[in-house]
Amino acid sequence: MMTKSLAEAISINSPILSRRLVGDSAWVIELELPGLSSEVLPGQFAMLSLSESSPTLIPRPFSVYQYLGNHRYSFLIQKFGAGTACLVEAPIGTRLRCTLPLGNGFQVAERERDVVMVAGGVGSAPFLLYAEQRCSLGAGNNTFMFYGGRTSNHLFDSQTFDAIGVPIYYATDDGSAGYTGNVIDCLKKSLDDNAISAEALFLACGPEGMLHAFAKWATKENLNAFLSLETYMGCGYGVCNACPVSTSSQGKYRNWPYVKTCTDGPVFDISDIIF
Ligand code: FES
Repeated sequence: MMTKSLAEAISINSPILSRRLVGDSAWVIELELPGLSSEVLPGQFAMLSLSESSPTLIPRPFSVYQYLGNHRYSFLIQKFGAGTACLVEAPIGTRLRCTLPLGNGFQVAERERDVVMVAGGVGSAPFLLYAEQRCSLGAGNNTFMFYGGRTSNHLFDSQTFDAIGVPIYYATDDGSAGYTGNVIDCLKKSLDDNAISAEALFLACGPEGMLHAFAKWATKENLNAFLSLETYMGCGYGVCNACPVSTSSQGKYRNWPYVKTCTDGPVFDISDIIF
């Protein structure tokens, strides 16, 4: 995984240009970020907060969702608590404090390699950019997405994903869209049906339970797989120690049994993380 240094990150106050509802309590907001290189890697993230009068002291981390051209970027945000509510409820034009790009991000695999993206809920956020970058390499046909949610209303912004042109398999707990059941079972079935290859590169992002199930299965199947972890974060750049997770590869990082999600990740080889 490629790592970009903190020195490449910028901190900027940017007004919200637009906001659209994309499912149950989830919005895509658009910001103009002049000074940011357009070469943001999928999975790299921003720390966002209100520039003024924020109800919370601590900013929240969000993957860069899409590059819209002319220095405009979007972010997928689900309302969970005060730190996210203030972002999605702020009037258009409200300035947000944005620090980005942070973290490593997913390597965009070479054209010939099959890639399978596995997402749950707002864990889809890194994969729009990933799918677009693969399509720009001419690899749309061998880039697959598996996207799970509780209901069809938790498959956020599915119309935008549909429009990219990569094959997408949806799964919902209640059967309101796609496969009835969880996304990992949908994935297993597709592998058993030879719809996808075990030789593919597998990338996953989503809630902890989903990632745990994915990692357990992928390890058993000996798949080449990477995870983007969603942990609590305070600073986003390695200072506060809010984001450690246990690692089985401490020599690879430091002489410490933990890695920091913000600076060592958020993307990790599944073999590096202990759940
Ligand atoms: Fe502060 Fe990782 S979020 S050290």
